[in-house]
Formats: sequence, structure tokens, C-alpha cells
Amino acid sequence: MRKMLTIADLKDLARRRVPTMFFDYADSGAWTESTYRANEEDFARIKLRQRVLVDMTDRSLESRMIGEKVSMPVALAPTGLTGMQHADGEMLAAQAAEAFGVPFTLSTMSICSIEDVSSVTTKPFWFQLYVMRDRDFVGNLIDRAKAANCSALVLTADLQILGQRHKDVRNGLSAPPKLTLPNLVNMALRPRWCLGMLGTSRRTFRNIVGHAKGVGHLSSLSSWTAEQFDPKLSWDDVAWIKERWGGKLVIKGILDEEDAHMAAATGADAIIVSNHGGRQLDGALSSIAMLPRIVDAVGDKIEIHVDGGIRSGQDVLKAIALGAKGTYIGRPFLYGLGAMGKDGVTTALEIIRKELDITMALCGKRNIADVDGSVLAQV
Ligand code: GLV
Repeated sequence: MRKMLTIADLKDLARRRVPTMFFDYADSGAWTESTYRANEEDFARIKLRQRVLVDMTDRSLESRMIGEKVSMPVALAPTGLTGMQHADGEMLAAQAAEAFGVPFTLSTMSICSIEDVSSVTTKPFWFQLYVMRDRDFVGNLIDRAKAANCSALVLTADLQILGQRHKDVRNGLSAPPKLTLPNLVNMALRPRWCLGMLGTSRRTFRNIVGHAKGVGHLSSLSSWTAEQFDPKLSWDDVAWIKERWGGKLVIKGILDEEDAHMAAATGADAIIVSNHGGRQLDGALSSIAMLPRIVDAVGDKIEIHVDGGIRSGQDVLKAIALGAKGTYIGRPFLYGLGAMGKDGVTTALEIIRKELDITMALCGKRNIADVDGSVLAQV
């Protein structure tokens, strides 16, 4: 097997090992995918300042995100259907993140449940919340996250309705996949994936099925979100969610200065500058383009994180230089997971750590805490 040196290598292997429907689910944005592309392209446009003949020994990437010690400022983002990239995907990714010393965020729309993940981890993970119309169910989800000792609640603010992702519509995305002839052929060409799936009972949305009223079977993400997600969710709701949760709260999906002010006023612990990986409002600006503006607006009031388009340790360094205290990777770890299971997630984290470490050194810094705008070249 080719040596995995970049996230792109993992992506190539995942494309061969994961059924097309689930690979495409990860590798897709809304409509024309212009924002999905801009997230990556805008990182590539930012250039670094080469510094020489400075002491590069004893480097450290250790930092904190919402007060928690992290071995580098990179968390695993909440991603839906992770257990469809690889059997028991969320449990494996959480274990890899724990061993690596970075936070793992479990999505509401995960395949493995909160309880599944907590049964195989020893340190607290983070839980991402989608708010449904059925507030009893939402309250219950929050209580389950508390009972599992989750140390942060990540409230997603940018998905009250689902952006249209053409690949998913064309592929008839569902979990488990429907056993149509094209799907069967596609899966048969990916025997490792099939073996893994045959060896687990976790093949649908286990945070929801059996917990939400009247939901005995749930296969389609788009129909579930359309029926159940609350399109009326508002800033007022943040207060009761914060109150019910009572712990650290992160608001994900802020891409506008006015919204950043509103988010800071809620008393949340952090915001994530995000356009949901280009999966919601196509035509929105990239996260990294908005980051400095949001840092200017509220950087003195609330901790700021960013996701969207991070494919390397260089991208992490650029985000930190532009004022983020933490970053999230979604697709990079999903590609690792689809390519090689738990080892693939570890490999994705190792790739990012190595790139971050070497880049930081070549920019003349030894400690991530000292990285600021001075590492960026003016072009
Ligand atoms: C869910 O969070 C998605 O973006 O598909």
C-alpha cells in the first residue's frame, strides 16, 4: 500500500474503500459547491513568512480549547453518519482522538450513540446538538450527554433546514443503504467495508431511533431533518439550552459579525466560525475569509474557533495566526476512517501534527502559543 503522507492520500484510499454514497456524503457541499471549494482555496491563498537561523529545538503544540488541555489545537468536528464511513466509526474515531489528546465531538446524527461512544472511552468527549421540534427529545438528549459525562455541548446554529446537496439526492443517501442493484454492486466492490458492517449492529442513527417518539426506523437524513429539525430555533432558545445543559457551551455556525455579537451575548464559552463545510448556504464566504473579521468584532469577548477547509497542519497554523484558539477537522478524519479505520484517524491526526510542527518551525516559532499574524506574509 502507498505510504499515507497527506490527507489527499487518505482521501484517495477512502474513495476506493467506502461505498460511493457515503464517500460522496463526506465529499460534498451544497448546490454548486462554490463555498465548499472556497474553504480550501482561500487557505491556499494565504502565504507564510519564512524565517531562518532561529533556535528550533523543543517545540510545543500543546494548548487549550475552552480550558481543556489539547496536544494540538485541533478537534474532531461533529460529522453525521460517521459510522457509515467504517463500521463503528464514531467509537473508533473517539478512541483515536482520546489517545492523541484532542477532543472528539459526537454528532446528534451519528450512527453510534452517546452511550456507545462513552462505553469505549475513558475521557469526556464533546456532544453536538441539533434542536428538534420535540423539545422533550432535545432535553433528553442533553441529559444523556450529561449522564455520559460529556464536557462540552456544541450547538449547531446553521442547520435549521438542510442545504440541498445534489450528490446525496442523486445517490438516494440513507443509513442503512437501500438494497438496490446499483448499491449492492457498489458495496460488493468494497468487501472490507461490507465485512465491517456485517460485524456490527450499529447501522442507523442510534441517538434517535428508539429514543424519539414514534421513530422505530430512520433511514433518510433529509426526510428526518425536514420533519423534525426546528426551523423556528432562535437566539431565545440558546438560553434554555444553556440552562438545561449547565456546562461549557460552544455555538457552531457563526459566519457574520452581527451573529457573532449575538452569540457572545449569550454567555457561551466559544463560537465556531463555520459555514458547515460549505454544506449549507452555497455562495457564503469561506470560514477563513470571515475569521479575521469575527476576531476583530468579538475576539475580546469570546473564544473563537474555526472549521471548514482545513486539510493540513499548514492550514491549522494559518487559522491560529488569524486569531483562532482552536480548529476542527471533519473530512480529513473521515477520509482516514474510511481508508483504514481507527489507524486511519490516527494517521490523519499524525499528518496534521507533523505538518503543523514543521511549518511552525520554518516560520521561526517554537511554541504554538507564540503564533500570531507575524508568521503570515503580506502579499
Ligand atoms: C450534517 O450535519 C451534515 O452536514 O450532513
